[in-house]
Amino acid sequence: MVLVMDFGGQYSQLIARRIRECGVYCEIVPFSISMDKVAAMNPKGIVFSGGPSSVYSPAAPKCNSKVFEIGIPVLGICYGMQLTAQTLGGEVAHADSREYGNTRLYVDKQEGIFKEIAVETQVWMSHGDYISGAPAGFTVTAHTNNSPVAAMADVQRRIYGVQFHPEVVHTPEGMKLLRNFLFEICNCKGDWNMGSFVEQAIRSIREQVGDKKVLCGLSGGIDSSVAAVLVHRAVGDQLTCVFVNHGFLRQGEPEQVVKTFRDGFHMNLVYADAADRFLKRMEGVVEPEEKRKIIGEEFIRVFENEAAKLGDINFLVQGTLYPDVIESGTETAAVIKSHHNVGGLPEDMKFKLVEPLRDLFKDEVRVLARELNLPEEIVWRQPFPGPGLAIRIIGEVTEERLHILREADAIVHQEIKAAGLYRKVWQSFAVLPAMKSVGVMGDERTYAYTVGLRVVASEDGMTADWVRLPYEVLDEISRRIVNEVKGVNRVVYDITSKPPATIEWE
Ligand code: XMP
Repeated sequence: MVLVMDFGGQYSQLIARRIRECGVYCEIVPFSISMDKVAAMNPKGIVFSGGPSSVYSPAAPKCNSKVFEIGIPVLGICYGMQLTAQTLGGEVAHADSREYGNTRLYVDKQEGIFKEIAVETQVWMSHGDYISGAPAGFTVTAHTNNSPVAAMADVQRRIYGVQFHPEVVHTPEGMKLLRNFLFEICNCKGDWNMGSFVEQAIRSIREQVGDKKVLCGLSGGIDSSVAAVLVHRAVGDQLTCVFVNHGFLRQGEPEQVVKTFRDGFHMNLVYADAADRFLKRMEGVVEPEEKRKIIGEEFIRVFENEAAKLGDINFLVQGTLYPDVIESGTETAAVIKSHHNVGGLPEDMKFKLVEPLRDLFKDEVRVLARELNLPEEIVWRQPFPGPGLAIRIIGEVTEERLHILREADAIVHQEIKAAGLYRKVWQSFAVLPAMKSVGVMGDERTYAYTVGLRVVASEDGMTADWVRLPYEVLDEISRRIVNEVKGVNRVVYDITSKPPATIEWE
């Protein structure tokens, strides 16, 4: 196991992820961790992350200098290297200008962490301070035009530092460097995989939960599904999942969720069919934010009702992922946001959180889902907004409109899948603008709904581009919707990116 000591760097988790990609188990620990704890964890190596501070600022996070005396190899990255230099008697200076972005690195010694790395290589820099003098016992192993000490090494004590970021993709040989540290310096084996993550997670969930009762709000999306299955493996029937059907789900979705978790995984699943009460609350509501607010509130009410029936619950499972944690910033903020993950649970619910996925990225969760034998439909499910189809119907949500949209959406799903595009695009779905236009079918005039088709490519949902679908696919979707969905006589394709539009229409 390797520890990433976190000094507040925005890439700490990325470092951990890269180490996992090398097949080495890794945990992130705060910089303030005690040396006793470090010793108890018995890591094969320690990586100091970067951080936003200057080592000279009074509030700068510092490490215990004993960390350099316990014989465990250390790799300091960016701020981590500056801190190493300062702690061990080197000199850190303020630069007149920041060194930022792609930078040419000149490797002075092609050994240790630079084994088999080109003498001239590209790296990613992002720093204000720089090291003007390496501490005694260190040699300079690389430099740039602006950094005389861009990397340093004390081979005897196995302490290394790099000013650049090997963990980002803009440092093409960064993975080679990390591998050198892990395998050449720390003697890691590289035999860790998601299977080992499962065992580890199960152990720590058992430790946290003991014999207490656990509740999970299950949406059927990949994150909550994986979290639920993991917790179920750990504590079995101490876990109860609550699946709230608000009536705005897609075709076949409630049945699939119930079947997967009850029949497939034999989990305690409370299925709360609340479609009628949600629909009632949508009467006359057209304003998008009002819709979202009402659905959020109603969701909490149903969830609380069901939770109350289960008696004393001590823990709540959340499928929070690392990007959710970063977005929310602090530890406390993370809790508030996590509550939103199950529909905005109020803060006065006195649950303790179980968040087994909080160190992982989405694609890692997909690997984990396959490890846990979750069905492909869940592993590869596209994102679906909490308020569901209600925010894909413009104007009032009625039973008739829901029916039309559900049918049209199912056709989009089938055709995008048939064209082999389902996993390639970020989202593909139908919307119902709830406007009517004139058409002609047979010899008859029609006056019916228009369906909008939305297919976007995106990395993270923050920005998106509309997908240039083949004409044949567009044609098939359009013809099938108009022929098969009663009440629709026109299909249009949304060719707006985000920004300026958003992915969802409301
Ligand atoms: P927008 O429409 O803001 O959506 O471009 C960005 C991504 O977020 C999803 N989305 C939601 N997900 N609850 C969710 O869990 C929501 O209320 C919600 N609203 C939007 C959307 O599907 C897209 O992937």
